[in-house]
Amino acid sequence: MEQLASKKELVGKKILVTAGPTREAIDPVRYITNHSSGKMGYAIAEMAASKGAEVRLVSGPTNLKKPFGVEKIDVDTTNEMYQAVLKSFEWADIVIKSAAVADYRPNFVSKNKIKKEDSDFTIQLTRNPDILKELGKRKKTNKILVGFAAETQNLLYNAKNKIKNKNLDFIVANDLTKEGAGFKSDTNIVSIIDRNGQIENYEKMSKKDLAEIILDKAKDLFIKE
Ligand code: CTP
Ligand code: CA
Repeated sequence: MEQLASKKELVGKKILVTAGPTREAIDPVRYITNHSSGKMGYAIAEMAASKGAEVRLVSGPTNLKKPFGVEKIDVDTTNEMYQAVLKSFEWADIVIKSAAVADYRPNFVSKNKIKKEDSDFTIQLTRNPDILKELGKRKKTNKILVGFAAETQNLLYNAKNKIKNKNLDFIVANDLTKEGAGFKSDTNIVSIIDRNGQIENYEKMSKKDLAEIILDKAKDLFIKE
């Protein structure tokens, strides 16, 4: 009984998770995106639901199945993710933004397929909104905001800057140059840094185990406030 109770430790908590890449159309057949598989965010959503939380998962395009007990909202573009996340922000106690969001979109989307010419072709890109930064601005004290940072250089420096710029409670930083870390893998190698600059370095572990660590940390911080 005791074991069952401890497993349901997120009952009463509302958790908003984002996952996967976003995708920006160039024309009806082409788009810009990134290598995110969505595995990390889906693992978090699934683990949170299994611990009794109410979970909303805002997902970019992935090949993954909706986790059991999770409400899933599908989006394509960064702007769609932005709108979907803003709609659920007030509702959420804990927001975990594991999505790999496209920072730019083409200035305009061609209605027809772009035909090739002999000359080179240039696409001009417009900055997308920074969803997490916007949430950080709106955050009230009793809400936990968790970001991710995927880096290929200066991991800790960049991650710390993101905590400050986006007003995060903590950030999960992964070094994409390490074998067994990052987008496609079922494992991850991360450091978790909190807003006081405290760093915890973790060995390679499954995304499922990491999901549990992230959720435990978010829950502990939420209770403390
Ligand atoms: N993020 C977001 N909206 C964006 C870009 C990023 O919400 N337009 C979120 C991601 O979901 C992640 C965190 O911000 O939780 C950090 O994303 P990352 O791409 O590492 O950082 P950026 O701030 O976009 O900076 P850069 O890509 O230059 O490293
Ligand atoms: Ca980015």
